[in-house]
Order: sequence, then structure tokens, then C-alpha cells
Amino acid sequence: MSRKKLIAANWKMNLTLEQAAEWLAEVEENLLEHHADVVLFPSFIYITDLMDLYQGEQILFGAQNCSHLETGALTGEVSAMQLGSAGVDYVIVGHSERRIHFGETNEAIKQKLKMALKHELFPVFCCGEPLDVRNAGKQEEYVSRQLTESLFALSADEIADVTIAYEPVWAIGTGVNATPEQAQEMHAFIRQQVAKKYSGKIAGEIRILYGGSCKPDNAKPLFACPDVDGGLIGGASLNAEDFLSIVMAAK
Ligand code: PGA
Repeated sequence: MSRKKLIAANWKMNLTLEQAAEWLAEVEENLLEHHADVVLFPSFIYITDLMDLYQGEQILFGAQNCSHLETGALTGEVSAMQLGSAGVDYVIVGHSERRIHFGETNEAIKQKLKMALKHELFPVFCCGEPLDVRNAGKQEEYVSRQLTESLFALSADEIADVTIAYEPVWAIGTGVNATPEQAQEMHAFIRQQVAKKYSGKIAGEIRILYGGSCKPDNAKPLFACPDVDGGLIGGASLNAEDFLSIVMAAK
């Protein structure tokens, strides 16, 4: 079955509003092919500004996080309900930087997934192992636990709206990417787990993105792997030209 590739720009805590607007104008002007879906994840504060500026149809917009609760006294947090009400399409859930720096647990990530779906956002669920786990050869066990304790709490209907991102923590922001063989092996493993838990049909339809130092010069072989359905791009997404060439590599 053929899955349309998805290329996402995760800007993290980078770019001023002016730089973000310039990036968007450049990408809008040059994004002429529609072979892939494109989702942009700016900081919360710019999402609606950029949605207003954007005249095209190909780019969808997402947030990098949402609260595990619907509403209430949680200073500094943004809820899925608020994102939905602002017209946001996607939300990243369980990014390793949230797990590491903000103590997000598999349980909290499960709640975030539920919140996102309740408010009609498409979640991008991130999973992936740190270096010591990879060195010990325990990456499958580790990722399997992340899936079981968060993602697999969803029903078959719910999981159909989810995109998975496999992001080996040792490859994020380090300049070291997983080889296409390492990526393919883990993507196939994740798809197999989805098939076991839900069905072969659901596993065949769900998109699994690769994230971790994906750049213009290594994107093509990664995207050519049969179970790699695109990328969640951090550092290399900050430059419009680099991002555009990564989108082209998904062709
Ligand atoms: P990177 O980040 O491309 O800078 O490694 C990927 C991500 O964290 O989504």
C-alpha cells in the first residue's frame, strides 16, 4: 500500500517572528510539487500569525506540545482545546526533549494523545531510544514499552489519526543520523507492533516518520526505505532552502 510522505519542520525554540515569516514566504513560493504533505511546527506564539500569512494550501500547521489537561490552573501551558479552537491541525506529543527536560512520562503522553484526539488535532507521537539503550541492543524493548504505555491505549479508530515519529535520541541534534538500515529496522519493528496490536490494515496505513539529524544530504536514502514515510526535521528545517531540498528528497 502506498502512503503519502509527510515532511514536518520542527523549529523547536528557534526563529523570531520576522525570520519565521521570511521562511514561510520562501517556502510558499518554492513549494510547487504536491508529492508530500508538509507540516510546520513553530513556537506556539507564531502559529496563528503564520497561518494568517500563508496563502497556499499545502502546508498544515501544528504545535510542538499540548497539556495533558483540558483547562485549568497550569501557568504557561497550552491545551489541545485551545489549539483546536485556534484552527491548529497537528500537535507533537512525547518529543524526547519534552521527556528529558520536562519530565514527561509515558502516562502523561497517553493523556496528551487523548486530549489531542478529543479536540480533533492529528498527533505526531514520538518514540525512540537513548544511546545507552542502543549500545546495549535493547532498542526494541525500549520503544515497545513507549508504544504500549502511551500509544496503544488508543482505540483502532483513534490510532488512524496518529502519525508516529521514530527519533533515536542519540541522533537528535547531534549531526549523527541513523543509517537507512537502522532506521528501516526500527520502522519495520514499530509497524509490526502496530499490526500485532491493531491490524495489518492499520499498520499498513499509519505513517512512520524518521527524525534525528535528517539533512538534505542524507534524506534521500532514508526516505527510500520502505517503512520510512517522511521525516520530522529539526535543525535542517530552520533554513528554508535546506527544508525545501528535504521535501524534494521525498519524491
Ligand atoms: P534534528 O531534530 O533534526 O535537529 O536532529 C529532530 C527532531 O527533534 O525532531
